[in-house]
Amino acid sequence: MKAAVVDRVGGIPRYQDFRDPEVGEGEVLVTVEAVAVENVDKAIVAGTHYTSGPFQAALPAIPCFDGIGRLPDGTLVGFGGVTPPYGTLAQYAAVPATHAAPIPEGIEPPVAAALSSAISAMCMRTAGGLVEGETVLIQGATGVAGRLAVKVARLLGAGRIVATGRDDDALRELTDLGVDAVINTAVDDADLIEAYREHAGDGYDVVVDYLWGRPTELLVRALTPESFAMPKPTRLVQIGESAGASLQLSADALRTSGLEIFGASRNLATGMAAAYQQIVDWVRSGELVIDVVTMPLSRIEEAWTRTDLRGKRLVIVPD
Ligand SMILES: NC(=O)c1ccc[n+]([C@@H]2O[C@H](COP(=O)([O-])OP(=O)(O)OC[C@H]3O[C@@H](n4cnc5c(N)ncnc54)[C@H](OP(=O)(O)O)[C@@H]3O)[C@@H](O)[C@H]2O)c1
Repeated sequence: MKAAVVDRVGGIPRYQDFRDPEVGEGEVLVTVEAVAVENVDKAIVAGTHYTSGPFQAALPAIPCFDGIGRLPDGTLVGFGGVTPPYGTLAQYAAVPATHAAPIPEGIEPPVAAALSSAISAMCMRTAGGLVEGETVLIQGATGVAGRLAVKVARLLGAGRIVATGRDDDALRELTDLGVDAVINTAVDDADLIEAYREHAGDGYDVVVDYLWGRPTELLVRALTPESFAMPKPTRLVQIGESAGASLQLSADALRTSGLEIFGASRNLATGMAAAYQQIVDWVRSGELVIDVVTMPLSRIEEAWTRTDLRGKRLVIVPD
């Protein structure tokens, strides 16, 4: 079969022949229709993700671990569960039958491939407990996931949405999406702390944090009172680390800022099904638009290195 193949740590996938997957007991053969390429996929290839080990050990290998495809009977499914060296950037994948679930009608494969970032944005409700009228701060809102989070926050009835990014043009585009205020994080520390305070209004109720690192460290400093005070709670949902894998958190900040920190997977087991259904309903009704850019598998080298996608998810489709 044809596949995108990486031959060394940090290599760029190349379009070439690869041995067909063998379908084992309890597995099904999926003909791949669409695969979203996300930061996590690039980090696994680069060897910087905590789950990189099995991929790196199996090189040469095919990147990406989930996708949308068709079963032999024509059913469109979302699937995962490939085992390196096999991945989903290929014509075919053999996966456990238990790891293939039907995609609801009315959703095209490229959009279905990108659904997961919208579903994960629902963590502002499932993990952060967002209720209508509350103020949401989205850290890293100019990215693919952040823009979807802006749309999801609006659909969930957020009262005010404040968004951060590093590029003024991209931040202006967010205003068109319904953001009430924007903060450029590419300023010096004191100015950024001031900006977080200035735009907080009555306080941020929920923070959806795709950044961590320096911007979130400065946000925490902005939330920390400088005299004895009874701060409002701010529920920060940690979902990404585009600005850094760690930050310094002082004891007094946690004691006094009202900050409550949750992982995005909080309440996932009980909230996932409803979150999924809500996103599917919004996509089918046209209320939620997921912007994707599709490119054929044969152009994977060019696709993998694109930097001009401006908040749209790259989705690889068959030739
Ligand atoms: N757990 C989940 O379910 C889930 C789902 C989706 C995403 N994520 C994670 O969330 C993060 C964002 O994903 P994405 O797909 O939206 O990525 P993306 O499209 O690359 O967007 C990254 C965002 O972070 C900003 N950024 C990047 N580096 C930065 C830095 N050094 N300092 C400050 N801001 C920086 C970008 O600003 P510019 O626009 O200026 O580049 C953009 O707003 C990633 O860590 C990803 O793995 C997690």
